[in-house]
Amino acid sequence: MLADLHQRVHNYLRISLTDACNFRCFYCMPNEEVDVTPMGKLMSKEEIFEFAKIFVSLGVTKIRLTGGEPLVRKDAADIIRLLATLPVKLTITTNGVLVHKFIEVFKNANLQSVNVSLDTLDPNRFLALTKRDQFQEVKDNIERLIENNFSVKVNVVTMKGINDQEINQFVAWTKSNPLHVRFIEFMPFTANGWMSEKVFTYQQILETIQEEFEFIKIKDEINDTTKKYKVLNHAGTFAIISTMTAPFCDTCNRLRLTADGKMKNCLFSKSETDLLTLMRSGTDITAAIKENILAKEKSLGGQLLTDFTKIETDQLANRSMIAIGG
Ligand code: 5AD
Ligand code: SF4
Repeated sequence: MLADLHQRVHNYLRISLTDACNFRCFYCMPNEEVDVTPMGKLMSKEEIFEFAKIFVSLGVTKIRLTGGEPLVRKDAADIIRLLATLPVKLTITTNGVLVHKFIEVFKNANLQSVNVSLDTLDPNRFLALTKRDQFQEVKDNIERLIENNFSVKVNVVTMKGINDQEINQFVAWTKSNPLHVRFIEFMPFTANGWMSEKVFTYQQILETIQEEFEFIKIKDEINDTTKKYKVLNHAGTFAIISTMTAPFCDTCNRLRLTADGKMKNCLFSKSETDLLTLMRSGTDITAAIKENILAKEKSLGGQLLTDFTKIETDQLANRSMIAIGG
């Protein structure tokens, strides 16, 4: 069992397959062009499988693959097939653009739920946000996933003055589609253009939706990061991930492995444990994993602890989102 000093048991591992991406979302990638980590420094598929087996033996029951964009990795299908042999609930977060090539792989791996990141329903704004003119491909792939009976969650990073005016269009989209739209409060990472003025809060999101829809609160599961709601006659639901205004650290069960094999006990943790180097040197990594978890801070990696309007981004010690892996 992977328990920390704050009575939290960790059974959910997020593995980043790569820090490369075929999109260029400004809030995820650092401002300056950064080099992608060379292959030799990334976990190989065998090493990923080895790590996953160890974490499963220590109590992990759910694995999510993230990136960068996990599906740009050449051996992504092999990795999914390998991990599907483990007794875990396997899931993935993707930008959606390559999903049509993976439908059969996902089905064979018994992947039930797929999270797709999509911040706008407007093709021009999509181009401005991602620097890629591929809105239609992503939209088609979301529909393809639904047709193939996957549960689809759409992640919308909600930013004031950028896409907050589209909130109700996203909610309207859940009317006839069994989609789960999740509005995520904009979070600060290294060099990602974050400013407190761009945070569109949980409260503001609810107020915006109230102007057009009548909705009810639905039950959240114990380890959920979301607060879930449903418009009564809609096929889908919407939810809010309120990291900035109402963090959910008390019930956190998540651990992270970056694509270069470093373990992080929190999205905002300052420290990392280099499990890949330990494994390559033939060291048993179990003790290092447990030590990493015992160092987990009670909340937000011990950072961002003030009111979000007072956060000084230059005081944060972290990676960029693309190098952490969602
Ligand atoms: N703030 C909030 N969410 C973010 N994501 C990436 N960067 C940020 C940020 N700065 C989202 C991605 C993806 C999920 C894993 O995290 O859009 O959907
Ligand atoms: Fe790529 Fe996702 Fe980061 Fe956008 S948010 S650059 S799609 S990894």
